[in-house]
Amino acid sequence: MLNNKNILIGITGGIAAYKVCELIRMYKRAGANVRVVCTENALNFVTKLTLQNLSQNEVGVDEFQVENYKPEHISYADEADIMIIVPATANTIGKIANGICDNLLTSVACAFRKPMVICPAMNCGMWNNHFVQENISKLRDSGIHIIEPEEGFLACGYNGKGRLCDLQKIFDKTEELLSQQQILSGKKVVITAGGTIEPIDTVRYISNYSSGKMGIALADTAYNMGAEVILITTVDAEKPYGVLKVKSAVDMQQAVENEYDDADCIIMAAAVADYRAKNQADYKIKKSDDTDCISIELVKNPDILKSLCQKKAKVSTLSASTVDTVKSPVIVGFCAESENLLANAKEKISKKGCDFLIANDISRKDIGFSSDYNEVSILTRGGDVKHIEKASKTDIARQIFEAIYG
Ligand code: CTP
Repeated sequence: MLNNKNILIGITGGIAAYKVCELIRMYKRAGANVRVVCTENALNFVTKLTLQNLSQNEVGVDEFQVENYKPEHISYADEADIMIIVPATANTIGKIANGICDNLLTSVACAFRKPMVICPAMNCGMWNNHFVQENISKLRDSGIHIIEPEEGFLACGYNGKGRLCDLQKIFDKTEELLSQQQILSGKKVVITAGGTIEPIDTVRYISNYSSGKMGIALADTAYNMGAEVILITTVDAEKPYGVLKVKSAVDMQQAVENEYDDADCIIMAAAVADYRAKNQADYKIKKSDDTDCISIELVKNPDILKSLCQKKAKVSTLSASTVDTVKSPVIVGFCAESENLLANAKEKISKKGCDFLIANDISRKDIGFSSDYNEVSILTRGGDVKHIEKASKTDIARQIFEAIYG
């Protein structure tokens, strides 16, 4: 799996730096090309000569001391298929999470646009520090993979969580991410996420409880599988791929249609409001003293999924020469049901006309809306049903792409 892959290892100044020598050997034995960048502090724990000999490459340390200057941070970032920062100190974690680039390693990390794995190792008190944990969450939310440190006896003499994870875990994660990467490479995947926001007046709106987590997990996973990703979302998301923020169903429909022509796959994970207020006041509606009851007239929103499927069906009936220039995306819908899940899902896939429908039971408290977990059934237009047991939304996302493209 790793044969001829380009792995970039970033080493920072922690005692676990000495363990990276063995990790480089593991990657080399598997046939990978390894390049190393490290902070100056890392060289207090392991020598440049050792790293050079093991990786069989020059080791990058200081971006301003390069003969024949070229923007090193860009070339390191461009050449690698994956970046592994190991061990990652609290200091470097803080810098990357906050966009600080004061050395070669942090500059490369900032420019990096492919899967990145961060393996922290530090004293247990530092690991539990509120700000360190906040930075870890920020990194995780932006799609970076964190392999948490393990509990045990630490080099500083303490017992607790902080020691570098087992090297085999890092190796396995590298293999997993690089194998996933191939499935979607060269494909453009458009994903919608979150509940649409339908204004009533300037301060009030109709929406729903969708957190956008499933759509964002799909977008992160597609990105890690090598796709060009466009996430069209009603919730905020800072990502290394394309993010378009929208509010209403009408805005979302426009944004999706703009991406349609060159999309390979469109996934409607958003919870689109079925209705919007017919009239949207451009002022704050006042409370009336005359009546206890008011009515808001609602009109139907466009059914985005259905219209995408109709467009696809129409295009496929056009002449062969036209079809050559327009892609025919795989269209995937979601189906949120609180009763008769499979029966309703089967009806919905034929009504909407999509290629796949992901059905989930929103009546369950342990999965679905706002949860980090989900349990779904994947239906195909041909009538196949595949059940995926409860798993993290990221894991479910991976299995969905494997079902579509595997
Ligand atoms: N959807 C859409 N446009 C709408 C409503 C839903 O594109 N106006 C999409 C959703 O993003 C999802 C799928 O259609 O992929 C099914 O959504 P769901 O809410 O389960 O179904 P509805 O069509 O809204 O039907 P109902 O609410 O009656 O179950």
